[in-house]
Amino acid sequence: MEKLSVAQARQVESVGKDVLLQGWVRTRRDSKGGFSFLELNDGTSLANVQIIAEATLPNYQAEILHLTAGCSISVEGTVQASPAKGQATEVRARRVLVHGLADAARYPLQKKGHTMEFLREIAHLRPRSNTFGAVLRVRHQICRSIHEFFWENGFLYVQAPIITGSDCEGAGQMFRVTSLDYSKPPRNEAGEIDFSKDFFGKSTYLTVSGQLEAEALACSLGKVYTFGPTFRAENSNTSRHLAEFWMIEPEAAFYTLEDNMDLAEAFLKRLFSDVLKHCGEDMQFFKDRIEPTAISTLEGIVQSPFRRLSYTEAIEILLQSKQAFEFPVAWGVDLQSEHERYLTEKHFQCPVILYDYPRQIKAFYMRLNDDGKTVRAMDVLVPRVGELIGGSQREERLDVLEQRMAEQGLDPAGYGWYLDLRRYGTVPHSGFGLGLERTVQFATGMGNIRDVIPFPRTPGNAEF
Ligand code: 4AD
Ligand code: MG
Repeated sequence: MEKLSVAQARQVESVGKDVLLQGWVRTRRDSKGGFSFLELNDGTSLANVQIIAEATLPNYQAEILHLTAGCSISVEGTVQASPAKGQATEVRARRVLVHGLADAARYPLQKKGHTMEFLREIAHLRPRSNTFGAVLRVRHQICRSIHEFFWENGFLYVQAPIITGSDCEGAGQMFRVTSLDYSKPPRNEAGEIDFSKDFFGKSTYLTVSGQLEAEALACSLGKVYTFGPTFRAENSNTSRHLAEFWMIEPEAAFYTLEDNMDLAEAFLKRLFSDVLKHCGEDMQFFKDRIEPTAISTLEGIVQSPFRRLSYTEAIEILLQSKQAFEFPVAWGVDLQSEHERYLTEKHFQCPVILYDYPRQIKAFYMRLNDDGKTVRAMDVLVPRVGELIGGSQREERLDVLEQRMAEQGLDPAGYGWYLDLRRYGTVPHSGFGLGLERTVQFATGMGNIRDVIPFPRTPGNAEF
């Protein structure tokens, strides 16, 4: 007897095999002819495998006739060709072992058609729904392709710390990490909390980005990437923001902004072409049930070049668009999602890479252009989701970097090691950050980022 997954048992090659299958019942249907059909799912595919359980099985009356959605079972039996349409195989059971029942009156997934909001309240059970199973399989494929792409392109996989003393984005949106007793913290003479007495002897936070550390590694190893959790304490209750999300950050020495854009475009194309290649069944589900353009959008992205233009050109287009934007457009403003969506969905109808943003609206580490007004930033924007990638060429000139830090009110004392990278063998280098959840959101067409991560953390929400 061979232990097979449901996905394997559905393959015609499995016909004739004596197998063990294990999973959760989706439905039971009793036939007048003295047998029952059980739809079994184990998470390995969207589709279930149909089990035929004859009334002659010893536990048929006592147990099998009581199986409902959510019950867990092991099935021993034989895979046979199925006469039914929509499935190549079915499994005739020789033995059905019941592991756990699921009270039909209370099991929340007894019926189909729940709202996404309701499913969020049962995040521990929603992976058993068709939608979340499909989302998590696509997410898994994307993670795998990320590693494959970088490994094939000579990038070393490195790890940045999760607890850090520096604010990479300089935006102050960080969660403090402390082991001080908050009911009686040590205080200095001015009465302020004395974090020099804290666990690390200084203030520490959960990282907002592994970039600064990745720069140190790139400035020794050449091409590296991180892939880890990042945290933002911003009070953004949007469909595109999480307080805890996963970011992939490649960083490469001797890369210009153009190299960086080429990398970002090749990278995204690879991720989405792998999704199309390996997640066909799940993508068809997203197309039918979630977003009609799910597949065609990805195909378009894989096939055609991204449109590259400067921030200044984008502002011109927006000004000439005669659209009634909620946030008015002017050179120097940060683009809002309505602006990004206009560019990607209406004007160009394809992914857009914007570069050379005004220095005031971008982080201190981005390389200043010769015009003195703009920095070598780049954002990759896509339809529906907006910004998928944010990156830049880094400022490698010590004096310019120090000036930019002063301009943004950053204390150089906290960034000594980062400045050292410019003191000792500085090199031009570039990198970017891809938000994993936005990527999954975009690939699947899911409307809310809370529905593409197993246990979302958002303001007011850290259940489970
Ligand atoms: O544009 P961001 O803030 O860039 C950085 O953090 C750079 N240090 C990256 C680098 O150059 N190495 O974030 C990068 C990406 C965004 O484009 C977005 O996809 C995602 O991270 N992101 C979020 N995803 C979900 N929720 C949030 N609150 C996010 N903030 C950023
Ligand atoms: Mg950004």
